[in-house]
Amino acid sequence: KKKLPLVNQTILVTAGPTYEAIDPVRFIGNHSSGKMGFAIADQLAAMGADVILVAGPTSQSTKHKSIKRVDVTSAAEMLDACLLYYKDANACVMCAAVADYTPASVSPQKIKKKEGSLNIELKKTTDILKTLGEKKQTGQVLAGFALETENEEYNAAEKLKSKNLDFIVLNSLNDKGAGFKTDTNKITIIDSNLQKTTFGLKSKDEVAADICNKVAQLINEKN
Ligand code: PMT
Repeated sequence: KKKLPLVNQTILVTAGPTYEAIDPVRFIGNHSSGKMGFAIADQLAAMGADVILVAGPTSQSTKHKSIKRVDVTSAAEMLDACLLYYKDANACVMCAAVADYTPASVSPQKIKKKEGSLNIELKKTTDILKTLGEKKQTGQVLAGFALETENEEYNAAEKLKSKNLDFIVLNSLNDKGAGFKTDTNKITIIDSNLQKTTFGLKSKDEVAADICNKVAQLINEKN
């Protein structure tokens, strides 16, 4: 029987959106369903990895019982969970759609409707992937996503470099069937040599397999 390629490898995956509270009943979120990140977690587990899945609010569930799931709500909670598990991870695939901004303060009571417009001050969240990139140890493989609507390849390459990634998975909202909520995705993988590989439209399970094969290849090359 052939040995699974990721046995004894601990891999951290993030999935889903984050919710940033405005008051006890409202939040700032995004359209991520968690499908892509959960497909990656399941594929890595199928390849033999010990998977830790840090998930934002989502209705998805994993197929593999061995996956350790850590549920979080906000970008700050996701950061804490990632920092806890990244130290001992051989690789990390950051698929979550993390909020870039969060309300500067959370109203303790439901905000009342009143005359005129309402302004909510936002402050920047910590970039989780960039933080992990700064802490990356020799041999660790770090992969991120880029969800773009314009200058896709340029913006993705900038994220790859500024966050110290081994590769980035670009998906464009200009491609039909790609991105949020759908059961399909269309990606381009850009590696640290800026080598690009573009794949066709496929199911998220098949896209996950392409991404996880790249993770396994890089773990082999680096160790
Ligand atoms: O969940 P689905 O409905 O299946 O949709 C999948 C998806 C479209 C959400 C997924 O394929 C995807 O593209 N995820 C990344 C979305 C995103 O936030 O992209 P970005 O270009 O804004 O961020 C770049 C990278 O930095 C991402 O890896 C992101 O996880 C990370 N990031 C961003 C902000 C932040 N504060 N911390 C981060 O770590």
